[in-house]
Amino acid sequence: MDQQTTIDRLAILDWVAGLAAISERDFTLKRVQDYIVAHAVKPESLDGFCFFSKGNYTRNLIFKNDIFECMAICWEIGQSSRVHNHRDQNCWMSAPIGKLRIQNFRVTDQDSALGTCHILPTDICDMDATHPVHVNPLEPVHQVLNLPEFNQRAVSVHVYSKPFDTCEIYQREKGTYADVPLHYTSEYGKLNPEEKLI
Ligand SMILES: [Fe+2]
Repeated sequence: MDQQTTIDRLAILDWVAGLAAISERDFTLKRVQDYIVAHAVKPESLDGFCFFSKGNYTRNLIFKNDIFECMAICWEIGQSSRVHNHRDQNCWMSAPIGKLRIQNFRVTDQDSALGTCHILPTDICDMDATHPVHVNPLEPVHQVLNLPEFNQRAVSVHVYSKPFDTCEIYQREKGTYADVPLHYTSEYGKLNPEEKLI
């Protein structure tokens, strides 16, 4: 099948409205993945939600209800996330602008009392506008990288169900992991007042 003729291109708020029309019972890994594969986000519709910072990638909330949240993450060239998980919640992502590398990891020898574990890199995939990905619930630890050789800014759209406000960060060299709180750089197109973008 020719993908070009079957993918709908929607402005981000229409794209999110389509997701919000899916019932909680039907908000499954496959149903949402099918939706994201069949409906691309028009890159220009993300303009009002994008804030870039040379200090770190930025997390920009677009929509949130009890079932899911959607955000745009803005990556300067060379920026990457830490190695993390999503607290047993599903995650789908695509990159309407640019390209991003996803590096997955397997966790071994985890000791939650001590906060120690080993992580081993497993598979890699690259995502862009026509290649969305979802996090594998069986191997949910991963890192997202805008590699210097990609040589362009990227904006990815993430759907998390259900919403969560902390994640576990893994420090491979130290063999440790720990909870960290998450925050939004901007919400609904408005920069949070305490943010100092550089
Ligand atoms: Fe992630």
